[in-house]
Amino acid sequence: MLVLGIETSCDETAAAVLEDGTFLRSNVIASQDEIHSQFGGIVPELAGRSHVERIHLIIQRALDDAGVQLNDIDLIAATQGPGLVVSLLVGLNTAKALAYSLETPVIGINHLEGHVLAIFLQQKVEFPFLALIVSGGHTDLCRVNGFGQYRILGRTRDDAAGESFDKVAKMLGLGYPGGPIIEKKARQGNPQTQVFPRAWLEKDSLDFSFSGLKTSVRNTLLKRNSDNGSSCSDEDIAAGFQEAVVDVLVRKALLACRQESLKRIVVTGGVAANGYLRDCMTEAARKEGIEVFVPKPVLCTDNAAMIACAGYYRSQHCPPSESDPFSLDAHPNLPF
Ligand code: KG4
Ligand code: ZN
Repeated sequence: MLVLGIETSCDETAAAVLEDGTFLRSNVIASQDEIHSQFGGIVPELAGRSHVERIHLIIQRALDDAGVQLNDIDLIAATQGPGLVVSLLVGLNTAKALAYSLETPVIGINHLEGHVLAIFLQQKVEFPFLALIVSGGHTDLCRVNGFGQYRILGRTRDDAAGESFDKVAKMLGLGYPGGPIIEKKARQGNPQTQVFPRAWLEKDSLDFSFSGLKTSVRNTLLKRNSDNGSSCSDEDIAAGFQEAVVDVLVRKALLACRQESLKRIVVTGGVAANGYLRDCMTEAARKEGIEVFVPKPVLCTDNAAMIACAGYYRSQHCPPSESDPFSLDAHPNLPF
């Protein structure tokens, strides 16, 4: 079975062809980083326009790389939400138009389900498990009992983890996206030079909050400016900030495992590409006899392979929807 995945929820135009749920024949991702980096964040109108310009080229490249033609595709899976509506509409409408002309089934996929199932492109993970979804728009702890069986245990009450990386990078004048840049800077810094606060929230809460941390970084920078350069470096701030985010993510993930008696954690989403988070989570979980699974970095950040993968498993495990597939609409706040 060949699934064509299409992902345009944010600022990556992506298409992929997946065979039988496991063999990834192609995975094409066109990043818009250079368009948005000058603004220090995503400009929705520019994102939507760039998707329109590139989507056909990217789909064609995915088909070419896979060595297949449109007529060979058995199912089209496209991201339906959550995300930027101007971006979502491009991929979803392209998927519907292709499905209509080819008489191929089309399904809308929740972007977060795509992130959770990305690990299955690499290896099978036994159910149940805990998923920590850490991206630019989400920080969620989710109990996964099976394909299509998800229960949110905690989520951020303000900024997402990735968003805080992006905002701190912007404050430091380091560009966009902030995650990889902060990670690189942090390698040259000392996390103990500038220790930032952690928001643990109420006892045993599995929710997150990162806006106070962001404010704390801003106050540190203001103080540093008025200190005439006597205190910590950008590298130390990056290291201290990253340490604070990772500390909270690791401890809350382990708390969720204890509360839910889970023995496996899947870490996924753009921030899961962070090597320090991957290492800290693996090491801390090992001490509690918990196994950690993380997709390789290219499958952590936005991609269409994970959407194709979710489409494949949906077609295998969930009964087909009664509704008209051509009435599928983009949902910027689609619940998970
Ligand atoms: O999953 P993703 O590609 O898009 C969303 O669904 O939001 O995640 C993008 C986020 C951005 O905030 C980016 O800064 C962050 O993931 N990110 C990282 C790293 N690579 C990407 N954060 C920390 N360390 C990284 N290496
Ligand atoms: Zn994402």
